[in-house]
Amino acid sequence: MANATRKIGLSLGADLCWPTCYEHIVRSLDLAIPHGGDTVGVDVERVTIEPFRLRQPCTYDVVLDRVTHWYSTSREWIKKAVLMDDLYVLNNPWSIQSMEKQTSYCAMMRLGMPVPETWLVPPKEYDPVADLEPTLTRYARMFEINDIAEHLGYPLFMKPYDGGAWVGVNRIDNADQLRAAYEASGKRLMHLQAAVEPFDLFVRCVGIGPQLRMIRYNPSAPLHERYEIAFDFLTAEESSLLSDMTLTINAFFGWDFNSCEALRQDRVFAPIDFANGCPDSQVTSLHYHFPWLVKAMIRWSVFCAVTKRPMRKTLDWAPFYEIADRDVPFRERLRGYADIARERLEADRFAEFCDAHLAHLDEITWEFFGSEIARDAVRAKVQSLFPPHEVEPFTEHFWGLLQFWRSTEADRLQLSPPQETP
Ligand SMILES: Nc1ncnc2c1ncn2[C@@H]1O[C@H](COP(=O)(O)OP(=O)(O)O)[C@@H](O)[C@H]1O
Ligand SMILES: [Mg+2]
Repeated sequence: MANATRKIGLSLGADLCWPTCYEHIVRSLDLAIPHGGDTVGVDVERVTIEPFRLRQPCTYDVVLDRVTHWYSTSREWIKKAVLMDDLYVLNNPWSIQSMEKQTSYCAMMRLGMPVPETWLVPPKEYDPVADLEPTLTRYARMFEINDIAEHLGYPLFMKPYDGGAWVGVNRIDNADQLRAAYEASGKRLMHLQAAVEPFDLFVRCVGIGPQLRMIRYNPSAPLHERYEIAFDFLTAEESSLLSDMTLTINAFFGWDFNSCEALRQDRVFAPIDFANGCPDSQVTSLHYHFPWLVKAMIRWSVFCAVTKRPMRKTLDWAPFYEIADRDVPFRERLRGYADIARERLEADRFAEFCDAHLAHLDEITWEFFGSEIARDAVRAKVQSLFPPHEVEPFTEHFWGLLQFWRSTEADRLQLSPPQETP
């Protein structure tokens, strides 16, 4: 048996907290996994940005990428490495680049998901390019935006077709607000979407490979309190439905790491935002849920690296469409889509791998989140976001929630000392 090392690269921008935690925990795991006749270890390194020769080999097996959606040098290096060097990357860069919220709505409507009624409207303003005037004069039809709004009903949402981070999202109650928002939208291409209101539950379903976490979400809370600490807010069937939806979306678009936002109204979950290929991963928003994210990232990336899981370079939608065209109820079709997703994400093999080789991850992570290194990582992130006088109180706040996570985790792992018997 030879010793082999797999290299995982972290392609980062502003992320501070999860990479530090990820690196320390992977080091502590001290992996030596028997695979294919070798004993495989894992190294982690941060990817740098520099000129690259197109034929230069890539030394990484897996890259966890957080910048493709806005930083083109990294994106083009990643695309080259996937095409030429068999790199596995989270997430598929072509899919990130080309699949906007609009595309994700269309595809999931076609698969039968109850996405709210949505219209796309031409932009209010244009860059003055040469062919603009003849194009618009000949073909652009005048329209009354309020007619579309009346069709959808107020309130409604006007938001960018390629949105993210709540930028340009407007909740609109009447025709005056609609006009003002459309004027202000300028050159941005906007959706008008029926509001799912009132809703009685907002869930964010985070998926990393086949791993899922459903988190109750409160969009009207301050940023650091939007992800809630709540348990048992879904029935078993709701949890299964949201799992199937999220896995379907993620496998359809080749997003190994994504989050799906769904609102419940009259017991139906309407997915409203699920093209989130660079989901929030910060301790300052995820707090209690943050250790889950770090562990799930480690499990999936180590699995992909050690087993040399080939990256799916094309998305192959035909099997989903074949199920979409079956004359059976939506829930049954959704199960069929999710079966494809679980197979593509090797859910069973992954679970066996984790049981066999990563059983110590839970306890190591539990210990790590009690360490000074973890506390410093939290402080560093807080420092980058909060004004100086709030750094200590907010560091303590998030640290306290991580310690609360440790106490629930200790119960789950039965790490706590046995109860005294009377
Ligand atoms: N159709 C809708 N019904 C109810 N609330 C919505 C709807 N669309 C958006 N919202 C609200 O606006 C927020 C931002 O919209 P979203 O589509 O998630 O945009 P972004 O991609 O910027 O996150 C959502 O988290 C939700 O609170
Ligand atoms: Mg959103």
